[in-house]
Amino acid sequence: MSPDVKAFFDDATNTISYVVRDPNGSSCAIIDSVLDFDYASGRTDTASADRIIDWVRQKDLTVEWLLETHVHADHLSAAPYIQQALGGKIGIGDRIRVVQDTFGKVFNEGTEFERDGSQFDQLFSEGDSFMIGQLRGDVLHTPGHTPACLTYVIGDAAFVGDTLFMPDFGTARCDFPGGSSQVLYESVQKILILPDATRIFVGHDYKAPGRDEYAWETTVGEQKARNIHVGDGRSKDEFVKMRDERDATLPMPKLIIPSLQVNMRAGRMPEPDAKGDVFLKVPVNKL
Ligand SMILES: [Fe+2]
Repeated sequence: MSPDVKAFFDDATNTISYVVRDPNGSSCAIIDSVLDFDYASGRTDTASADRIIDWVRQKDLTVEWLLETHVHADHLSAAPYIQQALGGKIGIGDRIRVVQDTFGKVFNEGTEFERDGSQFDQLFSEGDSFMIGQLRGDVLHTPGHTPACLTYVIGDAAFVGDTLFMPDFGTARCDFPGGSSQVLYESVQKILILPDATRIFVGHDYKAPGRDEYAWETTVGEQKARNIHVGDGRSKDEFVKMRDERDATLPMPKLIIPSLQVNMRAGRMPEPDAKGDVFLKVPVNKL
């Protein structure tokens, strides 16, 4: 079955959110939504999420799932905000527990921050499947960028999050805590053995040298033939060397500090203090 896929591009973070719809019904899933956040002022905004909510309402769709491919380090998830408006269950990979443990320590969270994934409605592991109406989704565990990264294969479409990017851009960085270029290479092989015609929808796009427009859809066949990091039979050793050298030059994403604290809580802010005020922490010299 071939789902209808509607993409929403977020200019501020280069994130692509997707609404994936059962072609024979009104069920849908929303993948990797964005809550706008201005770090300088500490203010959130829901314009990006409202665009998706308005579109879903206009099409009269029923949201079954709010899926996260991973704990993002470059934007805040709007999953709880959209859930309040439209319903649906929030899902992520079950290795979220590892991520919560790592960043629970980095942010010196107290015992009230549970590290068991219980903030999410559903924890998926490799080989799990789920339904969006009559449309079936299958879960691939594709770590490397983070330990909990998932690829959702829904009908003939694979939502790969931050594993592969467009063929002319390559792959995602592997230098965050718990990341590994060796592991990412193995995960990419799991995606590349899908049928060549499988549509691939990437989690981010930053354009690429010689390309002036954003793009987010490609195929397994194109990735195998042309991906500049892993295509055309590039060996694991070559990839690992290239990826590690490149990662050493990359700055931290602008929103990594707020993003991690919010996304490890399924997109919710930390508990308010006695006065009802909400604070995020900045760990000094830790990341
Ligand atoms: Fe990411």
